[in-house]
Amino acid sequence: MSKYIIKQSAPLHGEVEISGAKNATLPILAATVLTDGVCEIHDTPHLSDVEVMCEILRAVGATVTEDYERHVITVDGSTVDKSVVPYDLVKKERASFFIMGPLLARMGKVNIALPGGCAIGERPVDLHTKGIRMLGARVVTSDGEVNANADKLKGALVYLDFPSVGATENIMMAATLAEGETTIENAAEEPEIVDLANFLNSMGAQIKGAGTDTIRITGVDKLHGTRYAVIPDRIETATFMIAAATTRGNILIKNCIPDHVRPIIAKLIECGVDISDEPEGLRVRGDKNHLKATNIKTLPYPGFPTDAQAPIMTLLTTVDGQSRINETLFENRLMHANELNRMGANIRVDGRTAIVPGNQRPLEGASVMATDLRAGAALVIAGLVATGTTEVTNIYHIERGYEDFVRKLKNLGADIEKVD
Ligand code: UD1
Repeated sequence: MSKYIIKQSAPLHGEVEISGAKNATLPILAATVLTDGVCEIHDTPHLSDVEVMCEILRAVGATVTEDYERHVITVDGSTVDKSVVPYDLVKKERASFFIMGPLLARMGKVNIALPGGCAIGERPVDLHTKGIRMLGARVVTSDGEVNANADKLKGALVYLDFPSVGATENIMMAATLAEGETTIENAAEEPEIVDLANFLNSMGAQIKGAGTDTIRITGVDKLHGTRYAVIPDRIETATFMIAAATTRGNILIKNCIPDHVRPIIAKLIECGVDISDEPEGLRVRGDKNHLKATNIKTLPYPGFPTDAQAPIMTLLTTVDGQSRINETLFENRLMHANELNRMGANIRVDGRTAIVPGNQRPLEGASVMATDLRAGAALVIAGLVATGTTEVTNIYHIERGYEDFVRKLKNLGADIEKVD
């Protein structure tokens, strides 16, 4: 089994280029089945999650070409002819459920396995199914599967009880081909929703309001192929910002959209990190000031992202004073605290709150396990400042979401190797 071996490293220094956003690429790929045209998606990151989504597209009959050297994925939707997505694909990746809405709109029916829970929480899909039911689909959930059909979806008012990212995306995609107007209220406002809406609009969809809590979609008869480039990954951006701060380094982050990481910028500035917007990107300096504690509460966008919660926990173990982290989105997303404790962090977890005592720099190198994607990134950052050697196992989680993580860190001076 592959693992990362990390040795205590010098402060990160240099430049890093951010890849295309995983969480924008996945729904955009799912949306390609809405057309029988050809979609050329640029800036797609080479990640195992993206490969799985391509497998799913092939499973429903699409013709997919993955060119990771150019970061271009081409999907020809003219050959889509199946409406069944089996469990062995869904279980590989929860985001496969994003194909439910588009496939239903395209084929008039869909049969897809329920994704089930995962390490960070139960993660139900009730809001996704509620949404397509409101659009007139008959939906039966039984035997671990969702069966839905509708000759023609009909526009409706869909109020989401919670601004779920995935549910907003699924409903928005399905509604593009529905008859009449759909309004999604209490919609998620994440930048990836805006990117998906821009992609759909470039296919001829009529979507307004993405990025606010009310999205209006006027259904059209047909969507056409398109050429589109996905946005840079804001969580990868956040991860490198936090890594620079934790190692007290000085790095320039290129190809990022500073507006998408405002909550990270705000919190890092509260800690004393120096951040400046330069013409070529974001300059992040942890070497200028003495860093201090802050409190974090994860919230839907534009609040502090749950996906950056694990990495910032590592930073907070190294600053002056006690911090409190409150995870409000997922019920079991503090497992990395235990792993950090194995490195001497002394974090106390009570329910969804973690009390991070700080002043634990240097942590001590240990053998630790990535419990999920972002927890893995947190442990890698911890390894960079810990004394001695840190071994991070279960790195397949990390490779689901960070393109070229080892190479990018090494370019910044990190002492990290992947061993098989
Ligand atoms: C997406 C992101 C993930 C991120 C999360 C929150 C992708 C591929 N993944 O996941 O990286 O951590 O947003 O920003 O884009 N919920 C329900 N019922 C539903 C759907 C969700 O109760 O039908 C709950 C979930 O259990 C969770 C909360 O809503 O507690 C947020 O989930 P959601 O916004 O849907 O996240 P995902 O789309 O799964």
